[in-house]
Amino acid sequence: MDFPKDIIDALITAAREAREFAHAPYSGFRVGAALLCSDGSVFTGCNVENSSFSLTCCAERSAVFSAVGEGRTEFDAIAIVADGEAVPPCGACRQVLSEFAPDLHVILLDKHDEHRILTLTNLLPEPFSARYLKD
Ligand code: THU
Repeated sequence: MDFPKDIIDALITAAREAREFAHAPYSGFRVGAALLCSDGSVFTGCNVENSSFSLTCCAERSAVFSAVGEGRTEFDAIAIVADGEAVPPCGACRQVLSEFAPDLHVILLDKHDEHRILTLTNLLPEPFSARYLKD
């Protein structure tokens, strides 16, 4: 798609490194994400589980919250790396990503080191958005 290979590779590498920090003692399923901001900066996240299971935060949302916390709100792509198959973002993460970047490119890496690129528009065709809050 629209991204040079070196950028895709850098995002995948960053997501892989972030996955190493995953706190996943309950599921054993480690996920890393790397979010490319419009200014070229990259923010990463991993899944952070909790003994109170429902408080778990996915890698994708961790990356978004980290970026927004440092003033970035425009995103071009996210790479997601899990332990086995290519893992698409869960519904909650799709909604959070869509708040900032409805046209985001979503790079998914599989266990054979092959990647494919989807768009958030395809993954979440009709997101809830701020426009519905207006009367
Ligand atoms: N998880 C993510 O971090 N991202 C996803 O897209 C799917 C699921 C995490 C949440 C939980 O820690 C573990 O994977 C199992 O669901």
